[in-house]
Amino acid sequence: MKKTLILSTLATFGALIACNSGKNQETTQTEAPKENTDSLLMELAKATFGTLPEVAANPDNALTEDKVLLGRVLFFDTRLSKKGNISCNSCHSLDKFGVDNEPTSPGDDGVRGGRNSPTVFNAALQHMQFWDGRAKDVEEQAGGPILNPVEHNIPDSGFLIKKLSKVPMYKDLFAKAFPDDKTPITYANLTKAIGAFERTLITPSRVDKFIAGDLNALTPEEKTGFQVFMDAGCNTCHNGPAAGGMLLQKFGVYSDYWTQTKSSKVDDGRFEVTKDENDKYFFKVPTLRNVEKTFPYFHDGGITDLNEAVRIMGKVQLNKDLSNEQIASIVSFLKAFTADIPENLKHAPEGYLTN
Ligand code: HEC
Ligand code: HEC
Repeated sequence: MKKTLILSTLATFGALIACNSGKNQETTQTEAPKENTDSLLMELAKATFGTLPEVAANPDNALTEDKVLLGRVLFFDTRLSKKGNISCNSCHSLDKFGVDNEPTSPGDDGVRGGRNSPTVFNAALQHMQFWDGRAKDVEEQAGGPILNPVEHNIPDSGFLIKKLSKVPMYKDLFAKAFPDDKTPITYANLTKAIGAFERTLITPSRVDKFIAGDLNALTPEEKTGFQVFMDAGCNTCHNGPAAGGMLLQKFGVYSDYWTQTKSSKVDDGRFEVTKDENDKYFFKVPTLRNVEKTFPYFHDGGITDLNEAVRIMGKVQLNKDLSNEQIASIVSFLKAFTADIPENLKHAPEGYLTN
């Protein structure tokens, strides 16, 4: 019901735009000024993506300055791995738009996991985490990789908590971040702090300026690209503030994805979690924010070229053979989601982790 409503609203907007941009010489109606078309496009973008919040708030994990700082230090700390060589930032580099630009990532022992590292920027805006949506939020997610043998490889949470409890800096940071707790250094608090930090990793882009009413924030080419994106139907899955992350969808609605991606291994996606046949090849719709920079693409990182990723999407998700021109147009719009990440966010906070 809700979905139908949204779709019909979008259809109405679409029709209005078609109307306004049509050059019908027969009618006496004067052509709508360009500004009208642009403001309709702006409304359409707003209806599709909404207004980007400053942080992804969680009522169960208040974002205090001290907690976010602790999370940020932990994010960069290699003490969180068994051999002391891996931090969250190794695979989710904040100076590389939250990814490592590798198809799959080597962990503590150099062994690679089976899936591509998704970006941590804007991840907290999603309704689920991981390619198969198996964690509900960033707090739950943060607990996973530390104990994963092909990631941080920490044998158990007690081991890590013991290790961190010996570090004077952490005694201080945890106590400040969790002032009401008698023993602030716990695994639950560690995941809360990392989650809190991730909730601040929101990246406003020119698309958001446009949505906020600056009609010149997008170039004419990018505006056309947005229209092509909508007309093709990309928005049915890539919507919400992260331009994704709201739903699980089958990868390969019209044909098997691996015939296009040439994946060496067929990943069953959500099926691995539920063992329900109906969930086979279902994956979380990924965010398209900063997608220009978060290559390679798809759950196995098998595709490096964004144009090619868009072509495959058209083919297997929408049964459309997009022309090179349409693909280039969509890509120009997607690039407008690339944000300027503040310099100070790209590195570990000054004065910590100096040893
Ligand atoms: C060895 C590389 C590696 C390390 C280290 C690592 N991650 Fe990841 N991360 C991944 C991979 C790969 C996935 C996707 C796995 C999947 O979906 O099955 C992922 C998924 C995620 C996601 C979900 C994003 C989304 O859009 O679904 C978040 C958030 C995240 N990691 C945060 C962290 C944090 C916080 C740490 C440190 C505690 C960390 N990661 C350490 C590789 C890594
Ligand atoms: C039916 C839902 C659906 C539609 C429609 C759809 N997508 Fe996707 N998209 C997905 C899913 C699911 C994935 C993740 C596939 C995977 O890697 O397992 C994805 C992945 C992507 C990726 C790769 C992102 C990354 O970080 O790896 C891009 C780029 C993308 N889509 C763009 C588009 C564009 C452009 C369109 C319109 C032409 C579109 N999508 C239409 C569901 C959809």
